[in-house]
This record gives sequence, C-alpha cells and structure tokens, in this order.
Amino acid sequence: MVASATSKPSTSTATAGRMAAVQEMARLQRILFEVEREFIRTATTLIYRVGEPELKYLLCQHVWESAGHARFLRERGRELTGFGGGEGVRPAIRQLFTEAVMPADAYIALAGFYRVLKPAILASYQHYLKATHALADWPSRRLVEEFIGDELRHAKEMAEFDTSKKADDWVRHLETALSSLGGFLGQNTQIPLPAGYTWESSKRPYTHPETCNRGKYPTCSSVFSNDPKETPIVRFWLVDPKTDAKVIRLMVYVWLMMEMDAVDYLATVFFDTPEAPFDLHHDLARHLWDESRHSQFGYRQLPKLGVDLMTVEHSLELYNVLVQMAPHERYAMMTMEFEAGSFPTKATVMDRVRELNDFEADTLLAFDRNDEQHHVRYGHRWLPEIMALCGEKRPVDEFIKATQQRFAELTKVYGNRTPHALPPETRLTGEKILQLASAN
Ligand SMILES: [Fe+2]
Ligand SMILES: [Fe+2]
Repeated sequence: MVASATSKPSTSTATAGRMAAVQEMARLQRILFEVEREFIRTATTLIYRVGEPELKYLLCQHVWESAGHARFLRERGRELTGFGGGEGVRPAIRQLFTEAVMPADAYIALAGFYRVLKPAILASYQHYLKATHALADWPSRRLVEEFIGDELRHAKEMAEFDTSKKADDWVRHLETALSSLGGFLGQNTQIPLPAGYTWESSKRPYTHPETCNRGKYPTCSSVFSNDPKETPIVRFWLVDPKTDAKVIRLMVYVWLMMEMDAVDYLATVFFDTPEAPFDLHHDLARHLWDESRHSQFGYRQLPKLGVDLMTVEHSLELYNVLVQMAPHERYAMMTMEFEAGSFPTKATVMDRVRELNDFEADTLLAFDRNDEQHHVRYGHRWLPEIMALCGEKRPVDEFIKATQQRFAELTKVYGNRTPHALPPETRLTGEKILQLASAN
C-alpha cells in the first residue's frame, strides 16, 4: 500500500495552478467564441442595407461560417477546464460590435467590419496558434488553422465590395476602440481611449431602415398576382395543368430569386435578440444562408433562360411590413405562415418541372424543399424561445393567430407602398415569360 501524502493542497488555488496552461487557452477560446457570436449578431445588419445581391449572399455565407467557428469553439472549449458556463458576452466586446453597426452609410459600416474587426479576429486566431502548445493542444490547433484559412478567404472575397472611399474616419474610430482592449485577446498593449472619445451607440439606438436596399435593381411591392400583364408570377398559372412546364420553371425561378426578401427580413432578427442562446443564432444563421442559396438558384438560372435581370423587379413588401413588427412576430410569420404554407403549391410545381427532364432544376427544387422542411422544424423549435426572449406569454397557437391578424392590419398601412419601377413594356411579366418559354 502506498502511503498517502501527509500534506495535500486541497484548495482551488492548487487546482488552478495545476491546470493553468489549460485554463489560459480555454480563456482565449471563450473570448473568441464571444467575438464570433457578436460578429453574427451585428454583421447581419449589413445584409439588408447593402444593395448588391452578390454582396448579400457573401455576407450570409460569412455569417454562417462564423457560426461554425463559434460552434466548434464552444464544443472544444467545453472539453477544457476554465471555458466557463453560460454563453453570455462580456460588455466590452458587445460594446465594440454594437458600435460597428452605427454608420448610416452601410458601406462605411461594411468597411468597419472588414478593415478593423475581421482583421482583428484573424490576428486573434494567429495569436492563439502562437500562444498554444502544438502537441498538447493539437485538437484546438486543427480548428484554429482552419478558421485562419476561412478568415483569409473572407478578406479576399470581400475585397471587391469593400471599396468605400469615405470610411477612413470611421475605421480610425473603431481602431481606437479596439486598441483600448489591446486586441480581442488583450495580446497588444492597451491604449486608453483619448479624452472626448464618444461612442455613437451611446448617443442613439440602432434602428433597421424602413425599407431594404436592392441597389441598381428595379423594385415593386409584390411579384405575385393573377394578372399576366402585371407581375411575372401568375398565381393560377402555377397550379393550372394546362400551363406549359417551361413557363412554370421560369416562374419558380423568379419565386426562388425573390427569397432575397427572406434574406433581408430574417437578417433583422439577430441584432434584436442579443440574449438569445447561441444555438438559436446558429440555426438562424443556417436558415439565412439557406435562403441566400435559394435566392441564388433563381439569380443564376434566370439569365441562362434568357431573362435580363434588370427587367426583374424585386419585391419589397414583406420586408416593409415585417420590419414594423417585433422580432418574434417576424419569425412567426416567416416560419409558421410563409414557409409552412408554401409546400402544397411547391409540390405541384416540382411535379410539373419534372416533365422537362431538367436535372439541374429538379435538383435545385428538391434541395429547396428539403431546406424548407428544416426551416419549419426550426420554427417549432425556436418560436417559443424567441417569444420568451421578447416577453410574449400567450400560448404559441394563440400568438400565431394574433400575429397573422396584425400582419394583415399592418399590410393595409405599410403594404403596397412600392410602385412598379418599370413600365409593363420593359418589366418581366407573365406575358413576357410566355414569350421566353416558347423561344426556349
Ligand atoms: Fe427558401
Ligand atoms: Fe425557408
């Protein structure tokens, strides 16, 4: 029998000392987790404020990849002593990211994110690699090396869009705030904020714009009607067995491209739910990226079928109405009304498109359907949680019914406010789609 030690240090100080190397790396991972969380919450405010579809799609992709970083950091962090419970974000990090959304010019805000905050995230991952032990902490190293690759690619992908010449003052303003922290991980010398430094976010709250930005593209209220001279999607044509399948294919691509409105209004929910559990924002980020992919299905296929995208008006009505509602109401309308209600028509449409033996169209529609089924499941999972975050205490069913009524009321006021930007002769309508389909 081995004699036990006569004096054993049993205090937590001793444990802390013994595990110091692990605890220090867990501390850094915890900060990185919080930083990625805040990037997701705040960079999403850029999406509906910038006008280029390609830029919206790219931001959705970056937000989704950041959600992946945060998720793996949390998973690995929890294997380490000292990562800490809970998922809250420390005030100094929150303050910096909240500041970053403040510029009224979305392209100046974009510059703040991509010239200051993203490079600081990259520098933090690089610091982590240098600070940790390559063999002892190999599992973290593998992840961090991958994140560095993502961050380098993000910087490259954003270069063509982050071109504002008016952003220098704002970039300096954010750099000053970042320097006061010494970088996200405190790896640099902390330089105190100069006297008179004012946080824009302390002067006014951020609010979503009344309408979303679609850049150079023509806009309208809705692309759905029963009038082939008015809109590209003619509701009764979608389900009429006599409609040519080629016409249906063109209409469904317009429908998919218009999921850009889902991208824009879903992007507003993150900033409004700062206390959400991480898994909620993770799944919303996935939902957002899915919608951006669905929109790209249409955006990339329509030109191949002879459609000039400058003739396709973008519908703004759903954003315009939903932005007047609370975040849990927006999410309820999206998942429980628009998405849950779209399946029967989409099923008919899919069967008709299959007549064309267009393998790519069938594939895109099948993945769209699969994703949408997933979104409705997200809705059932997360709606009660978002309701609770927003202080909503009614039973879910009662709340959904009341929200549908409120949406109808608000539509009377805020709907139908965007007149057709193009005259019927130049815009894509059902009649034009008939002509294009016969030429294909
Ligand atoms: Fe979708
Ligand atoms: Fe969806």
